[in-house]
Amino acid sequence: MPAVSVVNYRSPPASSAMKRASSSRLDYSSTDRGTRPPALALLRQAGLLARSEAHVHVLDNACGLGTTTAALYDEFASKRELGRLRVICGDVSMRILRVATERVAQMEGLDAEVRVLDAQVRVSPSTNPCFTLMSPKALSLPSNHFTHVLTNFGFQIFSEPILALHESVRVAKPGGIIGLTTWTHPGWVPAFRLAVARIPGSPSSLPDPLPFTTRTGSWSDPVWIRAQLVTLPAVDASTICIERHAFEMPLEGEEDVRRFVRHMEAAGAFEAFMEGWSVEKRRACEGGQLALELVRALMEEHVLVWESAVVTCTKRRCSTCLRM
Ligand SMILES: C[S@@+](CC[C@H](N)C(=O)[O-])C[C@H]1O[C@@H](n2cnc3c(N)ncnc32)[C@H](O)[C@@H]1O
Repeated sequence: MPAVSVVNYRSPPASSAMKRASSSRLDYSSTDRGTRPPALALLRQAGLLARSEAHVHVLDNACGLGTTTAALYDEFASKRELGRLRVICGDVSMRILRVATERVAQMEGLDAEVRVLDAQVRVSPSTNPCFTLMSPKALSLPSNHFTHVLTNFGFQIFSEPILALHESVRVAKPGGIIGLTTWTHPGWVPAFRLAVARIPGSPSSLPDPLPFTTRTGSWSDPVWIRAQLVTLPAVDASTICIERHAFEMPLEGEEDVRRFVRHMEAAGAFEAFMEGWSVEKRRACEGGQLALELVRALMEEHVLVWESAVVTCTKRRCSTCLRM
């Protein structure tokens, strides 16, 4: 039986390290600009924006700086329904979680935990399918537990996304919703291509799609995503829903463009886009050259169109299907 590994645990008290992290370039308002609109589409498709009495227990998987949880919080708080919401935010990056922890701590009235959590670690099986410990020495995420397991833009980053998919299904309750988003067209790709093409010695053209979107599967292809889901016995194939989501992000002037570029660099997006480049080609972009050309390209093309796939499905209720 596969398992999610919880390696470490829960919100530490505010410390000077956290304050340093929050004052670093990891700025959640910049992240939210790109990932919150699809996160909201995911919440809507997962039924979490509809009025209800039911209690919901959400895993915000690969939570990053807490964008999905913040969107959930705002929705539930505005309807005065925080009492029926509980959230676990998990991510593998301590640097990111320090900021997420600080952010979630400001969400007054929210029942939430922030944990170091690897979405794809497989450890020893338990004989009890209702409560499987992820790791003998860590806090656990039990099987059949969450009403909603949501991953906003994690699957294209995971090194073993199929394992992570199994994990998402395992920890969802029977009848629970598994939801994820993937980029089909990250909005800054045209500007990135233009910037790179203008730097002497860098690759003259970049592959389409970019390698990082296909490294571990065709995560920008809805047909391929559906094919992965239907192979999972615990997923009710009749419930699979894959919708396209698109939104425009206008960048307002040079300072806004520079801030956006700084954020993308700090978030590791340059690295992801340069995957597979030779040392010489990388060197051509060093010394701030790439950031400079990106600012130039984005000043020319400052309305970014971001497109993603929003995927939801339901875990079967049938007990024989659940012994995964
Ligand atoms: C593109 S960010 C998305 C963050 C956030 N969900 C959002 O909507 O803004 C991807 C996140 O996946 C996390 N991540 C990468 N590998 C992971 C893994 N194996 N388990 C959990 N999180 C992982 C990264 O640390 C990063 O925070």
